[in-house]
Amino acid sequence: MEKIGVLVVAYGARETAMVDVFTRSRKYEVQIFIADKQKNPFNVKKAAKHLVIPDLDVEKICQFAEANKSDIDFAIVGPEKPIIEGIRDLIEKRTGIPVICPKKQYAIEASKVEQRLLFEEITPEANPRFKVFNPKDYNDVTSVKKAVYEWVDELQNQAVVKPDKPTAGKGVGVWGDHFFTKEQMFEHFMSNFQYGTVIIEEKIDGEESSFMAFCDGKHLVPLPDTRDHKRAFDDDRGPNTGGMGSYKDEKEYLPFMTESDRQNELNIAQKIFDKWSTKIQDNTALRGVPLYLAFMHSSSGPKILENNSRPGDPEIINILPVLKDDFVDICYKIIDGNLTKVDVEKVATVLTYKVPPSYGGYADVFPNRVKKSEIDTPVDLAAAYSLSHKYGERIRVYPGSMELRGNKTFALKSRVVGVLGIGGNIEEARQISLEGINAIKGAALWSRTDIAAKHHIQKCVEHMKQLRTQL
Ligand code: AMP
Ligand code: GLY
Repeated sequence: MEKIGVLVVAYGARETAMVDVFTRSRKYEVQIFIADKQKNPFNVKKAAKHLVIPDLDVEKICQFAEANKSDIDFAIVGPEKPIIEGIRDLIEKRTGIPVICPKKQYAIEASKVEQRLLFEEITPEANPRFKVFNPKDYNDVTSVKKAVYEWVDELQNQAVVKPDKPTAGKGVGVWGDHFFTKEQMFEHFMSNFQYGTVIIEEKIDGEESSFMAFCDGKHLVPLPDTRDHKRAFDDDRGPNTGGMGSYKDEKEYLPFMTESDRQNELNIAQKIFDKWSTKIQDNTALRGVPLYLAFMHSSSGPKILENNSRPGDPEIINILPVLKDDFVDICYKIIDGNLTKVDVEKVATVLTYKVPPSYGGYADVFPNRVKKSEIDTPVDLAAAYSLSHKYGERIRVYPGSMELRGNKTFALKSRVVGVLGIGGNIEEARQISLEGINAIKGAALWSRTDIAAKHHIQKCVEHMKQLRTQL
């Protein structure tokens, strides 16, 4: 087996899954170097060298790459912060190690305004109606309030408020979910506007899909659709989170989509890529996952909610372990500019996350459900891991926001551990994921119980049917 070295810049379970598929390679013996947000127990075990960089500071990551330069063939980056801050440009300039992620200038996840303007130019039919509010254009609260109210009247109140950049404000707010009156909406708006530019866009009624594609800079290679569950609680209630779980069907698109919905997504993504590429001189700049489009399937076709410049967490976990091609080969093709196709097994996958009581405001909303005596106890993954005796490679246990202390593992603040089930259909995959999740004890962890559940999927199917009959 050929021996190679890979640097993984890791945030949570998404990168644990990357490490897992690299180390399961049947063609390469992969030595892993990990710049990690925390002392992740899985990564510590698998890495040749593991360095904790809690803020994922790009300078510190680059120094780690420099120190191990002679042993690293390429680097891959999962989380958005270092990508947006230019990790690729820095490492490539200082070490010559090729890095898989977009260059800073093209990591458009950094600005929702930039994304909207790009999509307006290339594919206006997929862009919700939007207006940009820049603090520089207004002298006082009265004038901005007038402009905001006029626009929200035009949208008949169906408005979504989005800060251009991640801020200390309240973030994305949706009419009917996070505010119910114009006054509340304006309060939400101001909590963001005090830090910078804010978009107010049309609220789209529909069902969401996550569309991701690998890119070698020259070709866009679509991956199967996945469905994330963003809201904290069952039945899609509660605040938005990073994603509580996700699924992929055995076919390329989701049960509530039609083949033509998928084709529309492919056409939109390809059109964006083709036109965007003509503006970029460096044909390696978009390497990685430059287009992870969150679509809302509406009565008038798919609309883009946002774009991310990286693989989705958890969505890429639904795909990486079921790639037919060796992931190392895929990475080399991405770097060499000759990735034209990726084969994925025709199976379903379901990922469920377990999270701590503070996550998503659970302890405040359901104080009686929190097992208080368990809160500071270690997380025990042994029973979940031992399910591989029963399911073989069809179960994967991926620690995320947890750390090794001595020989015990403890939960941190974000999504602690994900369990992936792989099956012939969604229900089979879900049962495996749930069995794994239920086997994990300690730290008063909790999870949504309806990730990829039949009744959840059925509700989405019915919703889309109803929207399609409105045509
Ligand atoms: P974002 O951070 O842009 O992905 O938004 C977070 C969540 O807010 C999305 O997953 C949607 O559920 C919701 N959302 C964002 N934009 C819209 C929109 N234009 N219409 C309806 N819902 C939206
Ligand atoms: N699961 C949502 C995200 O990765 O942004």
